[in-house]
Amino acid sequence: MISLIVAMDANHLIGSGGDLPWHLSEDLKRFKKLTTGNVVIMGRKTYDSIEARLGGPLPDRISIVITGNPEWRRDGVVVSHSLSTAVGHARLFGEREIFIIGGARVYAESLREKIPDRLYITRVEGEYTGDTWFPEIPDGYALTESEAGTQATYEVWERKS
Ligand SMILES: NC(=O)c1ccc[n+]([C@@H]2O[C@H](COP(=O)([O-])OP(=O)(O)OC[C@H]3O[C@@H](n4cnc5c(N)ncnc54)[C@H](OP(=O)(O)O)[C@@H]3O)[C@@H](O)[C@H]2O)c1
Repeated sequence: MISLIVAMDANHLIGSGGDLPWHLSEDLKRFKKLTTGNVVIMGRKTYDSIEARLGGPLPDRISIVITGNPEWRRDGVVVSHSLSTAVGHARLFGEREIFIIGGARVYAESLREKIPDRLYITRVEGEYTGDTWFPEIPDGYALTESEAGTQATYEVWERKS
């Protein structure tokens, strides 16, 4: 199973100055619960924002980082040079769920290729300012769950077969 997980505001905003535009502990807890023990695939800029916050990769998850830089490496991180290679690397870790966790460039490519089977979308209430946006959800995905939280709605979309 390959899932994409994202939090966006009413205008599809996802990032600001290399970080998240908001602090939403409820959403971070959900992200942790879903991804712990699994494989996370991210772009190098999203990895940088995690490293700036935590000093290294997300704990208790296998991190795969995509970069075009052949020199780039970090302890505890699997490096891939394309999205398809990253997915191939992720599959080597067995029956774990694979999560595409951003950012915009990786989301866009994965949706263009219809790689995710499932989309976990947090719709954050309100409008924020920032510089990075999530693309339109392409045809071929259907909303299957929607649950109201305190400051966000948590949606699940599935790829139609
Ligand atoms: N709200 C959310 O749920 C959420 C989730 C994740 C991230 N974000 C936010 O999104 C922003 C970062 O997004 P972003 O679009 O700027 O960056 P990104 O997608 O995280 O990273 C882009 C970088 O990844 C590498 N990359 C991506 N696709 C590649 C490919 N096919 N081949 C080779 N390299 C590839 C390149 O690294 P090199 O430059 O090293 O070659 C590229 O510069 C941040 O503000 C972050 O906080 C938000």
